[in-house]
Amino acid sequence: MTESLPVRVFADRNDACRTLAAEVAALIGAINDSGRTAVLGLATGRTPLPFYAELIRLHREGALSFSRVVTFNLDEYLGLPGEHPESYRAFMQRELFGHVDIPAENVHIPDGTVGEAELEAHCQAYEDAIRAAGGIDFQLLGIGRTGHIGFNEPGSPKNSRTRLVGLDPVTRQDAAPSFGGLEQVPEHAISMGCGTILEARKIALLAWGSAKAGIVREALTGPITDQVSASFLQEHPDATFYLDAEAGAGL
Ligand code: GLP
Repeated sequence: MTESLPVRVFADRNDACRTLAAEVAALIGAINDSGRTAVLGLATGRTPLPFYAELIRLHREGALSFSRVVTFNLDEYLGLPGEHPESYRAFMQRELFGHVDIPAENVHIPDGTVGEAELEAHCQAYEDAIRAAGGIDFQLLGIGRTGHIGFNEPGSPKNSRTRLVGLDPVTRQDAAPSFGGLEQVPEHAISMGCGTILEARKIALLAWGSAKAGIVREALTGPITDQVSASFLQEHPDATFYLDAEAGAGL
């Protein structure tokens, strides 16, 4: 089988992240030089950790500033306040924002504490804010074992937008260890939709380890289907998979 998307397989995740971080730093620099603020779509999970570590290193070396960067995170667990250690807001603060010069007002993450009555308006406002910022220049993605990007579980339509989503049992199981048990894992989240993600001008999906090899192969070479939301990337004009040798082993 041949994959239709560009795939870059690296010896290990640190290699991949060094390469991608240099590319993203160059992109931010070029956009800032053209007089614009750069708009990044960011992801959580274990996968982007070495990428964020590399961005922090570049920042410390004076090679990268976030002073003219605006960010939008993909998703947030419903019901978790930003102070909860497993909230994606806390994750981003810990793993990236707390170590770089990004202005607090430039950071956007869905609010997991929003009430039911305001949920729809909150999601619409998130979409409006992305549009008002000029759209996403670069979107970072991981991939869940269900093939999800963001929290777009099987059945998420290609044109879906930021909304309330239910989490797949597989996804909740995967999150259980860090929450200290399955019953602690939220059942819902707010997530950018597939349509929101696909509007990003440039996309990189990262995956490491043999546990991701099967779903990576499905996303790249299988049918384009809402059962594997990452398969929609096959139709994107500028999406690339960055893999380590284990995650790329099935190709
Ligand atoms: C969560 C996140 C996704 C992430 C996925 C994989 O579901 N919402 O954005 O890609 O986990 O997590 P990990 O990178 O830890 O394997």
